[in-house]
Amino acid sequence: MRIVLGVTGGIAAYKAAILLRLLTEAGHRVRVVPTRTALEFVGRPTWEALSGEPATPEVFDDVTGVTHVALGQQADLVVVAPATADLLARAAAGIADDLLTTTLLVARCPVLLAPAMHTQMWQHPATVANVATLRLRGVHVLEPAVGRLTGADSGAGRLPEPEEIAAAALALLRPGRQDLAGRRVVVSAGGTREPLDPVRFLGNRSSGRQGIALAAAAAQRGAAVTLVAANVALPVGPGVDVVPVETAEQLRDAVQAAAAQADAVVMAAAVADFRPVAPAVAKIKKQPGVAVHRLDLVETPDILAGLVTHRARAGQVVVGFAAETGDADGDVLAHGRAKARRKGADLLVVNAVGEGLGFGTAHNDVVILDAAGDEVAHAAGSKDDVAHAVWDAVAPLLAPAG
Ligand code: C5P
Repeated sequence: MRIVLGVTGGIAAYKAAILLRLLTEAGHRVRVVPTRTALEFVGRPTWEALSGEPATPEVFDDVTGVTHVALGQQADLVVVAPATADLLARAAAGIADDLLTTTLLVARCPVLLAPAMHTQMWQHPATVANVATLRLRGVHVLEPAVGRLTGADSGAGRLPEPEEIAAAALALLRPGRQDLAGRRVVVSAGGTREPLDPVRFLGNRSSGRQGIALAAAAAQRGAAVTLVAANVALPVGPGVDVVPVETAEQLRDAVQAAAAQADAVVMAAAVADFRPVAPAVAKIKKQPGVAVHRLDLVETPDILAGLVTHRARAGQVVVGFAAETGDADGDVLAHGRAKARRKGADLLVVNAVGEGLGFGTAHNDVVILDAAGDEVAHAAGSKDDVAHAVWDAVAPLLAPAG
């Protein structure tokens, strides 16, 4: 495969020579594109000798080969290591003033950036915003390592070790499973908000992270994905159609509309079970002498139950999530099994919440049950790992494609 290795002007540029070796030894053709300042740190002969390819920062060095377009078009992967704060800013803004940034604008293959800079530059709001923008566009931005920096300081900002960058790069080149190609799936994510009055709501702590991971994993596996996102502030990856909603009722309408065409619906959203009977039209005021205020609640529609009883399409797979805590009546799994039988979804993903588990955390530990409450799979790891485990369980249940 063809890899473009961008090198920018940071002291860690010398480590890119080792990365280059690792990538060529893995059997890939690597073209190094240094920036002008990178060449202040490590000279052109090093890059050209190690890669066997020309290494210029300029778009005008090979005008007949139209390299500023060709490199990005032909690349299977672009890696930039080290990526300075300046490169992150130029890439986020879409500036194209040298061969590396023109290549980044043309490339539609995976892009991996390995930032390295002083901690204060990494933590500056401008850099934070640039990284967020790039990630929103689907660019893979590694977290810098923490440790000794160029001067006497230490902190976050070191270039990760070349072996680590090479592993991340090679993982992006591995052909993914496309077992959901041609499928349409709906995922709900986040937590609903039920208004009490124009400024207050009843909500929950769901970040939407697991639902976003499910949507991204399905898109990677080839599905057309609709993400019904309730109050989700986190970035959603590329290739996912997002329908933002706020309340349980809006979520139900959006999910039902999208479900009409879907092969599978995964309800990862934390949907309010109750909402205020009638939200006040004006902000509820404190009343002198009244210390205790009553709030009348009604049940919201159980969307999952509705999807199970009125399947929008024959053979549609419906998946629920159950965030459980153990109590005197049983542990997390016992409650999960009872819920699986009660809800009748084809699969129920049960996870323990509370005490740093589940909501808002990066990791999850789940058991996937079938409608009878029997265990289909157990998955622990990142929310991406759990997302893939869910699709692994869904895929065999899908009706034959047709
Ligand atoms: O009963 P419980 O709320 O624990 O069930 C959780 C599952 O049911 C989740 O998949 C959630 O998205 C779904 N749910 C729903 N409608 C509700 C409440 C929960 O679809 N009103």
